[in-house]
Amino acid sequence: MTEKQKVVLAYSGGLDTCVAVRWIQQTYDMDVVTLTIDMGTHEDLETIRRRALQVGAIKALVVDATDVFVDYFIWPALRAGALYEGAYPLATALGRPLVAKLLVDTARRHGAAAVAHGCTGKGNDQVRFDVGIKTLAPELRIIAPAREWDMTRDEEIEYAARNNIEIDVTRKSPYSTDENLWGRSIECGALEDPWTEPPEDAYAWTVSPGQAPDEPEYVEIEFERGIPTALDGKEMKGPELIQELNRRAGRHGVGRIDHIENRVVGIKSREIYEAPAAVLLHAAHRELESITLTRPAMRFKESVSTAYADVVYDGLWFSRFHQDLAAYVLSSQQVVSGAVRMKLLKGRATRAGVSSPLGLYSKALATYDEGDQFDHQASLGFIALHGLPARTQARVLKGALSEQTLRPKLNPPELQATEGAQTRMKDEG
Ligand code: ARG
Repeated sequence: MTEKQKVVLAYSGGLDTCVAVRWIQQTYDMDVVTLTIDMGTHEDLETIRRRALQVGAIKALVVDATDVFVDYFIWPALRAGALYEGAYPLATALGRPLVAKLLVDTARRHGAAAVAHGCTGKGNDQVRFDVGIKTLAPELRIIAPAREWDMTRDEEIEYAARNNIEIDVTRKSPYSTDENLWGRSIECGALEDPWTEPPEDAYAWTVSPGQAPDEPEYVEIEFERGIPTALDGKEMKGPELIQELNRRAGRHGVGRIDHIENRVVGIKSREIYEAPAAVLLHAAHRELESITLTRPAMRFKESVSTAYADVVYDGLWFSRFHQDLAAYVLSSQQVVSGAVRMKLLKGRATRAGVSSPLGLYSKALATYDEGDQFDHQASLGFIALHGLPARTQARVLKGALSEQTLRPKLNPPELQATEGAQTRMKDEG
């Protein structure tokens, strides 16, 4: 008897991946090894493992990757200021390359011919997995059951029933969610209508800002070279610090994000995120940069942040461009040390205070009071040269400039939407 080929499946224990185990066996006649990765949410891994074996996996592996996730994914992204489209702290997007790497490592260790994941053919995650896997291991075949089978959710449930796969009804939710230490992503159901406010039951980590305490809470975060190292004067390891901030900021309704985002595959989608610690830490980190970086460094960092977020979002983690950006970020962060005191109140996290031994804020230069050391007379020469190009141009154009800037702007002719355009697009595919 020849041995069956093996496939390593990224397994969360949800309906999709449970059904996927059986579906792969039936469709490809392969042995399925499941791989479940803890990225800081500490679910009941033993139950997930047992379930994988129940539904037919020949081996069920679980890995605690929390520390790696924090050190190699979360902190670099925080230092980079990586917020996709200025809003999304990229929890899901950051987790995917780590899963891809662990899938590849596991496949090699177990002599598997393929790896598998539960993504559909519509989202970003399939892109991140496939690109990551193929970059690391071009020889591995990728199986994506949910992209290949043509089942609706109800048909999946039917398939599960026919195959004696128990469905965990407690996990049934009107939404599709993904969670790790850095945040929670929620989509589908009522959220698909951008005219509708997200129902309260979409949230699990945050209270509604309106219901949050009336009294503010303060947190003091210490950063060393752009990485948080202590909370309220107590040194803390990354995972604990993030967990603690998720709890505390979540209690004040901090970290809710409602984002209409541009997916890699070309569609716009409405996404809800909860990321209390991420939102708070990004805000605090930005505050610290505001006193430790010079103006050109801050301006340049903005474009690096945008590019970095796009690289992560687009699934290009394992790319030279990512390394190039990361090298700049690392260098820029060498001065980003100090403390930030943040105030949590009714859904907002704002700076209450900031200080840094490497800070560029100088009271002696900034003050309007006694002790001013700024050379006011030096401004005259500066202004003369700074305004020289503008004055020269104004002279050459003989006053036309000021006239043009004052003339009211005209709108171009209005654009008309084609009637029924939305429906037709659907018919055209
Ligand atoms: N839109 C987000 C992203 O691309 C989140 C996707 C999360 N997946 C989910 N099953 N809800 O990173």
